Amino acid sequence: MHESSTRIVEFERQLAGVACTARAWARVPDAPGLEERRELKERIRRLLAERSAVLLAHYYVEPDIQDLAEETGGCVADSLEMARFGRAQEAPTLVVAGVRFMGETAKILNPEKRVLMPDLDATCSLDLGCPAEEFSAFCDRHPERTVVVYANTSAAVKARADWVVTSAIALDVARHLHERGEKILWAPDRHLGAYVQNRTGADMLLWRGACVVHEEFKALELEALKKEHPRAKVLVHPESPADVIKLADAVGSTTQIIKAAQALDADEFIIATDNGMLHKLRMLMPEKRFIEAPTAGAGASCKSCAHCPWMAMNGLANLAETLDTGANEIQIDPEIGRRAYRPIDRMLAFAERRNVSVRASGDLARDGGLFGGVGPA
Ligand code: 13P
Ligand code: SF4
Repeated sequence: MHESSTRIVEFERQLAGVACTARAWARVPDAPGLEERRELKERIRRLLAERSAVLLAHYYVEPDIQDLAEETGGCVADSLEMARFGRAQEAPTLVVAGVRFMGETAKILNPEKRVLMPDLDATCSLDLGCPAEEFSAFCDRHPERTVVVYANTSAAVKARADWVVTSAIALDVARHLHERGEKILWAPDRHLGAYVQNRTGADMLLWRGACVVHEEFKALELEALKKEHPRAKVLVHPESPADVIKLADAVGSTTQIIKAAQALDADEFIIATDNGMLHKLRMLMPEKRFIEAPTAGAGASCKSCAHCPWMAMNGLANLAETLDTGANEIQIDPEIGRRAYRPIDRMLAFAERRNVSVRASGDLARDGGLFGGVGPA
């Protein structure tokens, strides 16, 4: 059994229409030593092959896991591409290194496959902040609105939705619905919701959830950092607050942030998203400099310090363990799964029709422009 430490995380949730503070925990495994790390990586490579399993990793999980996913024919990607890639695999087992909603999405899209995760308790403050029953009551009060939910939600919340979106495609979907004269009920991330509302002019009623990582980026400190690095471009994930987004040169999903760094004419970037991203950015562009955006003012302490406590629950040891034993399998009530499938499938079909590019290594010229669904603040 590997050592781990438990972190308590405060997050915002909506209760009877009012935002209040709640607490959750995250069990973060201790980092293995050098030799153990080498052995674990070897064991994971062997087990992936023996079990005919494919590893899907998010950019926020630890670098070793991202590298293993790529070198073994899996993927490291944003949440839209993780869903698309997972569905395209023939392998009978998918191992999702990320947070629970990512594993659930993989299972909903592939009910016949076995979907494993290193730790099933790896949650997300947006998911926690949007309980299915309260959300369903909220939808019942606004039957005239099209329900659009962010992928960072439980299967039961998705089952209540007309559309699921990720940050890579939220603008395109909202614009499409707005053009059709539809009013939107949006959940759970209020910052992403406000950004989409602002950019598209859509009529959107927002749930009041937030991400514990992105909400901590601070505009004043970012302005000061920009002054120290006047040539740096600022790349921001849209789960960040509006005053931070305002300072961005490009706003987009994790993959779109990589694309922006590849495409923009600059050699220095300030990155306002989880610092797990820096690994991939530095691997792809060793000649460029990436600086973390500030998460706390002078004298203050940060809560997440730009790293998601639940993404940090994915370690080499629990990844090897789940592959070995088959423990930590995602189970979803089949009826909820069937209902949640429709809005996710609708998003993937829409992404395909719109050619929203989802791979960071994609060819920008072929993808038809700089960013799909991403843009300046
Ligand atoms: P992406 O879809 O941009 O990867 O974002 C997922 C997420 O959880 C960001 O906090
Ligand atoms: Fe959720 Fe934020 Fe963690 Fe992403 S970074 S999984 S939105 S808590």
